[in-house]
Formats: sequence, C-alpha cells, structure tokens
Amino acid sequence: MSVNFRVQLYCLLLMLSALKGEGRYLQENEVTAEGLFSLLNSEVKRESSTDFIYRRPLRCLDMLSVEGQFIFSADRPQLNCAAYFIAEPGEVISVEFSAVDIDCRRGDFLKVFDGWFLKGEKFPSNEDHPLPLPERYVDYCDTGMPRRVVRSSQNVAMIFFRVHSPESGFTITVRKLINPFPCNIISQTREGSFTMVIPHQRTNCSFSIIYPVEIQIEELSLGRLGSNDAPVKRSVPGCGGTGDFVELLGGNGVDTAKMFPVADICYSLKGPAQLKVGCDNAVMRLVSSGKFINRVTFQYRPLDHHELQKLKGNDVEDFCFIE
Ligand SMILES: *[C@@H]1O[C@H](CO)[C@@H](O)[C@H](O)[C@H]1NC(C)=O
Repeated sequence: MSVNFRVQLYCLLLMLSALKGEGRYLQENEVTAEGLFSLLNSEVKRESSTDFIYRRPLRCLDMLSVEGQFIFSADRPQLNCAAYFIAEPGEVISVEFSAVDIDCRRGDFLKVFDGWFLKGEKFPSNEDHPLPLPERYVDYCDTGMPRRVVRSSQNVAMIFFRVHSPESGFTITVRKLINPFPCNIISQTREGSFTMVIPHQRTNCSFSIIYPVEIQIEELSLGRLGSNDAPVKRSVPGCGGTGDFVELLGGNGVDTAKMFPVADICYSLKGPAQLKVGCDNAVMRLVSSGKFINRVTFQYRPLDHHELQKLKGNDVEDFCFIE
C-alpha cells in the first residue's frame, strides 16, 4: 500500500469499475484496506447527523462501522459484491437477515464470513480463529439460513453476495455487542491505545493496524513477575522456546501467519519501548501458554510522510521498512 491517499482512492475506483463486470470471484479481488477505510470516512459523518435507527441502501462494495438497517436491491446483475463490517475493539458484530429474495438455483448467493477476506488473505488466520474454516462461513443457500442472526467472533465480519436478477435483494440489520474478552482485532483507527489481556488461556491474540505506524509498548506483564521465578531470559533467537511472549509482526497482507516478526519480547517490562513499522499492516500479537495472566498495553500512531521516507532511506529490503 502506498502512503499516498490519492493513489489508494484511484485503486478503489479501478476496483469498483472492475466489480461492475463479471470479474473474478471477489475473494481474489484487489480490495485494498485503504480503499475500504476511505468508504468508511464518509459514513461516520453521516451517522453523527441522525438520532434514529440508521437506514440506507447497501452498495455492492461497502464498508459499515455503524449499526442500522441496510437494504440491497440489485438494479442489474451484481456478481461480485462484498460488505465489510468493523466495530470497536471491544465489540462483536451481529448480522440479521430479512426479506431475502435471491435465486440460489440460478447461482445467486449470500454468505457471511466470520472475519475479513482481503487480497486473498483471512483475518483472523486459520491458526488463530476459534472455529475451523468451514464453520466460519454461513451460506444462505446451503442451509436456507437456519440462523437468521449470525454473530462474529471478533470486531470484524463480512458478507459476500451475488445477485443475477434485477429487483432481487435482501435486508441486513447490523448490531454491535459487547465482547468482554476481545482477542483478535482490526483497529478502526490509525491512532489509539489498547490493553490486551489473556487470562490463563492457551490462546494467541492479535491486534492489527492496517497502516504504517509507530507502536509504543507501555507495559508488558507476562504473569511471571510477582512469583518467585526469575524473569525469563531472552532465548536466542527470539522467544521461540518460551510459551508466553509478545511479538510484533509486519507485512502487507492481513493473515498474521504470513507476516514476518519484527521483534519478540519475552520478559515483563515497564516503561516505553517503541518501534516503527513501515508496512501496510502492523500486528501486536500476544502468545499465551495458559499458565499466566498475560497483558500488554500499547499506543500507536501513524507514521507521517517524512518518517516513511526516512525509513525507506535506511535501505532495508523491499518496501516494508522497520526501525
Ligand atoms: C500460539 O502461537 C505459538 C507460537 O506462534 C504456537 O506455538 C502455539 O501453538 C499457538 N497456540 C495456539 C493455541 O494456537
């Protein structure tokens, strides 16, 4: 992803025009994160101007961060459509279907995916999601949608749909629900702070920021300090030998399993440690063995143009720059 916003908007326009044709299936499409977030910016402004239940038509390519009712009605065959949903880190999304009028026998479909599919990659990755991949899809046509309400496992979800006949369509009602133990998260903003906690669970949680950022770790507690154990020594290389650590990942897709490690920290730390990651996606990942209560608090802010240029000047490999 280029930092240049205009280039991204241009990509989005290209992509929108591609979606009008009988392009490849959308899962392989070059939907960029930046393109999605630019759709979102106009939404937020509109939301603040209304007090009652928000209602609007759903577009063939859409991004929603607000609760409300969204009505899709095809004015012509729409073959590669997707709507992305995003909520606050501490929320999950519920999607309710009503007035579904599509022709499954003719090849129409409507699927909910528990996560995001972006540029052919999934978030959360197969490794990190609590459900096996087939169970992350709910297909209206397979099942007649016995569950009219589908709830996501994290703050992002999406639907894929294809409608051949004009006048066909459906309505979705999107709600946001509190998630007391948020684990896998995509940040809605480029700037903010977050505390990730894994209480005695053998699980790994990722916080993903789809923008080049500086991340500052304020506090990392791996549940060992306070016991009589000595702080864990940094194993060489990285923290592979220990079951509890934090890793910072960088990469250009959303699948954390395909990203590369920028830094590993496997000892508790107080006081700031900061890193700049000039990648499309920076991920703070907490790996937990289940023996401890692990917690990491961090802040992040976007890198400006000057900082990115400086990172590039350091002449590290490729276009994903780290300092
Ligand atoms: C968490 O990540 C570590 C290191 O990447 C891996 O060895 C472990 O199997 C993962 N745990 C779970 C529950 O997926």
